[in-house]
Amino acid sequence: MISGRWAWWISWPVATVFLCLLGPIRLYDATGIPLTLQSFGVVLVPLLFGSRIGLAAVCTYLALGGMGLPVFALGTSGWERFFGATGGFLMAFPLAAGCVGLAAEALLVVRPDAPYRMTRMLLAATLLAAAGQTLAAALGILWFNSISGTSDATAWIHLLPGLGLKSVAAGACVAVVDRFSARTGIATGLVLLFGSSSPLSAQTPQNPTMEFKRVSDHHSFARPNEAVVTHLSWSAEVNFATHTLAATAVWTVDAAPGAQEVVFDVRELAIASVSVDGAPVAFSVGEAAPFIGSPLRIPVSPGRHSVHIRYTTSPDAAALLWVDGDRPFLFSQSQAILARTWIPCQDSPGVRFTYDAEVVVPPHVLALMSAENPTVRNPAGRYTFKMEQAIPSYLLALAVGDVEFRPLGPRTGVYAPPELLEASAFEFADLEQLVVAAEGLYGPYAWGRYDLLMLPAAFPFGGMENPRLTFCTPTILAGDRSLVSLVAHELAHSWSGNLVTNATWDDFWLNEGFTVYFEYRIMEAVYGKDLSEMLVALTRQGLAEEIESMEVDRPADTHLKLHLTGRDPDDGMNAIAYDKGYFLLRHIEQVVGRPAFDAFLRDYFARHAFASMDTERFVAYLHTELLNTPELAAQADVAAWVYAPGLPESCPQVVSPRIAAVDQTAVSFASGQLSASQLPWDAWTYQERYRFLSTLPESVPASHMGDLDRSWSITAVGNNEVLFAWLKRAISFEYTPAYPRLEQFLTEVGRRKFIVPLYEELLESGQLDLAQAIYTKARPGYHSVATGTLDPKLKVQ
Ligand code: BES
Ligand code: ZN
Repeated sequence: MISGRWAWWISWPVATVFLCLLGPIRLYDATGIPLTLQSFGVVLVPLLFGSRIGLAAVCTYLALGGMGLPVFALGTSGWERFFGATGGFLMAFPLAAGCVGLAAEALLVVRPDAPYRMTRMLLAATLLAAAGQTLAAALGILWFNSISGTSDATAWIHLLPGLGLKSVAAGACVAVVDRFSARTGIATGLVLLFGSSSPLSAQTPQNPTMEFKRVSDHHSFARPNEAVVTHLSWSAEVNFATHTLAATAVWTVDAAPGAQEVVFDVRELAIASVSVDGAPVAFSVGEAAPFIGSPLRIPVSPGRHSVHIRYTTSPDAAALLWVDGDRPFLFSQSQAILARTWIPCQDSPGVRFTYDAEVVVPPHVLALMSAENPTVRNPAGRYTFKMEQAIPSYLLALAVGDVEFRPLGPRTGVYAPPELLEASAFEFADLEQLVVAAEGLYGPYAWGRYDLLMLPAAFPFGGMENPRLTFCTPTILAGDRSLVSLVAHELAHSWSGNLVTNATWDDFWLNEGFTVYFEYRIMEAVYGKDLSEMLVALTRQGLAEEIESMEVDRPADTHLKLHLTGRDPDDGMNAIAYDKGYFLLRHIEQVVGRPAFDAFLRDYFARHAFASMDTERFVAYLHTELLNTPELAAQADVAAWVYAPGLPESCPQVVSPRIAAVDQTAVSFASGQLSASQLPWDAWTYQERYRFLSTLPESVPASHMGDLDRSWSITAVGNNEVLFAWLKRAISFEYTPAYPRLEQFLTEVGRRKFIVPLYEELLESGQLDLAQAIYTKARPGYHSVATGTLDPKLKVQ
């Protein structure tokens, strides 16, 4: 007969093997560690250190697992969030279990005379507390169902596999161990059954009953109320020689009673063949219209169908940028309506689907998508992908190139070209902390992993929130972590945008305004209010300038709710959606108070997860849930923000003493009271330097530029935001020593936010020839999104 102690040692590995075999790796607990890995941890520690210390370690582990998120959330939100949010509520129990276990273990150290009795005490205590956790998980689901109006079993489905797996493990464990020591076996099995934290805590339930009849989207030909896609199986071969993808899209389509066809959006795709449920069908592609492309009409009968579309993309596909040379790279940019140039799809943000994909690429490059991704290369160049949460088409993304992966935290990491990997890992060392802070604010991260991809500098944006894999410009690698707010922004989209999605591009502010608000809250939580308020002050300055530039010619574009019918949705991509949107939310926060606003936002994301939202429904929801007295509604005056031009009087004032001090310094410098070498340049953050350069009055003598450069070598600065502000001034002052750097910057970097204002400044200051000379050289390296904006300005067809 094996002693109880040995039985204990044996039962852990047995149960763990069961968990590992049966537990799908994608179930995560609050710490983001897959449950299967947890089980390894649980078994390894006792084996390595012997039962007493091992038990203590297991209890610590449970306690830490339980604390995970709430501990980080404490700094930002206080105890009420700890118990208030579903996650915190559920996770309190493993925390309690671990603590009780530790206490019992400590007792064992003090009273070594009765170890076995104490061990049983420990088990009983852990068991009790952990059973409470499961009960709480169930209550959490009931609560979630009641607030979200979900009556189906979706949420239970996330809990039950966890419980089921644990039960199987427990049963097997009991069966095996019973032969040696029934009591220990049962106790161990029960601890396993109840003791690990529930997968529910990290899984935001999908929300199918939130579906509503979709609002019409003028930027898509699809009619999803008649026939809608639900899943995509995509296979593609990437050809760097021809700059094309040869692909097959297999769509699962649900057609409503009476439906006769399913309509997709396509642009510049060569459709080779279409079949429905295996039988070839006659399809039609309508006439192409600028930027919106054509409808692809495919006959279907009511019911569920599998629609196969074989096609090839054009070498000029607007979404795709092919970088040639010895380090070939391909990346896509689908937002807003460019997905249709590389995949035939219902290209409207109100239509969601899951997807899987198989992509074949040349050997020696890695393929990545907005999905579950590989971390190492496949010698045959064959990669498979899976995205199990439903996404809209603008979040479809593909990147192929020479990149390597470096983990940064349990569920975070970065992909970058080998020479940028080290710098990227340094720059984004806080990534996991940002995710934890975001969860502490507005609820569990719903997408499993969060990784970054450093793209070539030609990427036309700062960042793009492709789910699970944010695409980034390398221009944020400043070397001092000063530009991470961009990552906070893209991360925030994992809630605002990717989870609750603007129904049409007229509602774009629901994506971006919420995201800017969320971004600054993350920055405040992680880096403090001093810093986040500097960001807000700069935003306020940018917004005032943008409104001023639009007020006369296109005042309707300064409404939050846009009317982009017949126009490219890209026209709506300006500071209004982002920054006027931000200030509306900050204004509401001031009216109702932060705790009430945060609770409102948490519920908003939970209730509308995996669904879309339009402005009208949001405004109505806001008034029933938050601004529900005539006084509050009048004070907030939301309509003035959403449906009227300019910036309402109620726009919050921003007080940033550090930015105010910079403004003072700029005045002293301009008037000659302060020389360049006396500036506190070295002590300034990038925000202060940026403000100084962008606020310098036009009246400063041109000689000041040389003084500044000699004192602080600004032309050679590493921070691209500061460099941008400097080059802009250099152009307006015709400070030619900076021109070689300007030309180098414009030919290397394709980020629209930087290059468009620099070309505009060249044009406004009468340097058209120089602008055209540089543009001609740089243009082949730019993405269509950038050339689309610049061609008309620089008179290139
Ligand atoms: N989703 C946007 C980028 C975008 C918007 C692409 C509309 C195409 C159409 C992304 O989240 C974004 O806002 N990027 C900003 C980052 C910034 C505000 C921190 C950018 O690229 O500059
Ligand atoms: Zn954004």
